[in-house]
Amino acid sequence: MPVRHYLQFRDFSLEEYEYLFARTGWIKDMFKRYVAYQPLRDRTLAMVFEKHSTRTRVSFEAGMHQLGGTVITLMTRDTQLGRGEPIEDVARVITRMVDIVMIRTFEQSIIERFAAHSRVPVVNGLTNEYHPCQILGDIYTYVEHRGSIRGRTVAWIGDSNNVCNTWLQAAETFDFNVHVSTPPGYEVEPERAGLYGTDHYEEFEDPAEAAAGADLITTDVWTSMGDESEGAQRRRDFEAWRVDERMMRAARKDALFMHCLPAHRGEEVTAGVIDGPQSVVWDEAENRLHVQKALMEYLLLGRVKTQGELWST
Ligand code: CP
Ligand code: NVA
Repeated sequence: MPVRHYLQFRDFSLEEYEYLFARTGWIKDMFKRYVAYQPLRDRTLAMVFEKHSTRTRVSFEAGMHQLGGTVITLMTRDTQLGRGEPIEDVARVITRMVDIVMIRTFEQSIIERFAAHSRVPVVNGLTNEYHPCQILGDIYTYVEHRGSIRGRTVAWIGDSNNVCNTWLQAAETFDFNVHVSTPPGYEVEPERAGLYGTDHYEEFEDPAEAAAGADLITTDVWTSMGDESEGAQRRRDFEAWRVDERMMRAARKDALFMHCLPAHRGEEVTAGVIDGPQSVVWDEAENRLHVQKALMEYLLLGRVKTQGELWST
């Protein structure tokens, strides 16, 4: 059996996501009832962070521990990676010693080079281009709150960054639509987003128009990790792309608000929206834990007997 990796959202089929969500529901329920479920005893997860993290680190670390395994966390600056060891050599070495690897890095090509030399599954914990584990959690959260996402409209307001690209890939897999509104100069690049086509998203100059009638409004920081030198310019360019109460009112009455976090209240979103009744950002963050436990179980053990029905996404 070839090793499976999770490097971008389109690596899995809709049917695999439905399986994963069914497992997530079961694993989450066990966790909430304090029932131990430890199928990954004696397994080791190595995490490599070339960028900062709070949620990704805690959710993978706690998740692997809860599944019975152990975790090694490597920060670039403490390892030989920080002194220029080739990523291919790092992959060859650490994947002889551990069972699964999660990497947060810069270009997608870095994680692809690592995966090409890995003996074990590799998971993308965020690259400049993609953040698949985030959208895995986000779609699970949407379905949990509102049912199937098929045919729904997601409004993306802000930068066409790694999180946006992943929403666009997910729209192709789950068959929903994305209304994207970015400032001029920050538009979607379909090739970089890794899309099969352009029929699952529409671009809007006016963010309020993108929000009109949406089932979900979502955004992210104006300046992603690695783009810090552009921060001041971006604050000027994105001023009209703040998700506020007026934008939420343009959406459907029961629309949800999501943000992958960390958030900057008063920049990309007002405090009233992120701390308001339509926001599900804390559920979104929590669900990273549950979906990633299902993901690690799937990558390491394949399909286990599914308790409960497949989710209708
Ligand atoms: N959303 C997310 O990935 O958060 P961290 O950067 O804190 O991991
Ligand atoms: N787009 C953001 C997401 C952080 C979770 C970044 O890459 O910094």
